[in-house]
Amino acid sequence: MPDTAANSTSDVRGAALDHLWMHNKSWAATAETGGPALMSSGSGIRVTDAEGREWIDVNGGYMCVNIGYGRRELAEAMREQMSKLVYFPQGATTQPLVELAEKLAEIAPGNLERSWPVTGGSEANETAIKIARAYHKRRGESGRYKIISRRESYHGALGATMWLGGSGGREDYEPAFPGMVYAPQPDAYNSGLDESDSEAAVRAAQAVEDLIKFHGASSVAAVIAEPVSSSAGAAVPGDEYWPMLRQICDRYGVILIADEVITGFGRTGKMFAMEHWNVTPDILTMAKGITSAYVPMANAIVTSEVADVFAGADNIFRQALTFGGHPVTAAVALKNIEIMETEGMADNSRDVGAHLLENLKDLAEEHPIIGNVRGIGLLIGMEIVADRDSRTRFPQDARMGERLNEAFEAEGLILQSRGDRVTIGPPLCITHAEADELASKLDRAFGSVGRALAT
Ligand SMILES: Cc1ncc(COP(=O)(O)O)c(C=O)c1O
Repeated sequence: MPDTAANSTSDVRGAALDHLWMHNKSWAATAETGGPALMSSGSGIRVTDAEGREWIDVNGGYMCVNIGYGRRELAEAMREQMSKLVYFPQGATTQPLVELAEKLAEIAPGNLERSWPVTGGSEANETAIKIARAYHKRRGESGRYKIISRRESYHGALGATMWLGGSGGREDYEPAFPGMVYAPQPDAYNSGLDESDSEAAVRAAQAVEDLIKFHGASSVAAVIAEPVSSSAGAAVPGDEYWPMLRQICDRYGVILIADEVITGFGRTGKMFAMEHWNVTPDILTMAKGITSAYVPMANAIVTSEVADVFAGADNIFRQALTFGGHPVTAAVALKNIEIMETEGMADNSRDVGAHLLENLKDLAEEHPIIGNVRGIGLLIGMEIVADRDSRTRFPQDARMGERLNEAFEAEGLILQSRGDRVTIGPPLCITHAEADELASKLDRAFGSVGRALAT
């Protein structure tokens, strides 16, 4: 316990070094900069740190502050619900939660009807996997436990979800969760093959079918995928991909889970990204944008067909989470969705996203280290390469991640790169003028890295 209340900025940052674990950052590296940055306020796409410097938060937190910072209506919705009834377990229920479940059934694709609310994206995907496995058991197919995910995808950090997708870094947590099977991404640029987006889509979907056949359909419970994968660099799959995945899952009786934790709530220019392909998954998970991160909430919504398998006495889906279905989070989600709808945030994401994508493609003409720019709505990926023709990446000792991050920081951008790609996902309230400002800052940042490389 600290013996005095820390108050100056450096005290607080020092106390953070002593008492907090940062996300995926070493204490030593954080200490070198005097402790973690301390952020104190935000408005729209911008945040201000405790020293008064203003930043553009290029990814709106972890691509979650969809309506932007500083919307008092959400604070008001929270205050109102807190003063009425702060909490009740989801054995009974509360008005805002029921209204939210109804609203989600209305706006989610197809016949996704029944919600299991939780507090974060990992929990939503853990829930989805459990529902998929329990669904098969109830239908007499108890051998179905394997889950197919795609390499480089990210679906969470908890027990089972941390073993979905992935690109390494899990050695500390072996042994792996049983039943994880990995498929390729539909990404023509990175496949190493000379193929179109359509060909990559068909090949990647076909690979899922091949895995189901190889493992035996009677052992496969579900396929999980993000409609567009942020962690895999925002490659937009060819139009064949999602309809094919749907058909394949139907053919083999496999549950299709769409992870819309990032893509949900307007990120790709539609409320849910699956609407781009008119495909309804059996389970859709959502988080982040559901409350624009004003409070933690997430959800797994399932079709009536899946839910009905849990109907009847002595057949319940066995799971209770204290904060699952919290009425305050539901009230905030309802207000957030209302704002998204009345202010046309998904349309803004489509329009400003298309404009920003063009701007960033223009940047690629100027800066040879940008090998490829792709994306949809306000989910955009830039691939960083040492050589454009061969698409080779920079070696570790080129310190490309550090160089880019220093250049972004110098421009007042909160944006992090590992050095092989840069992913852009600003709050959906971003204006055309702000998108231009962002593109100019990126232009200067890439310019300074390019000049340093040349010398
Ligand atoms: C696609 C996707 N799924 C799941 C998660 C996990 O969500 P959370 O961090 O809320 O547990 C994330 C987090 O970034 C994500 O991007």
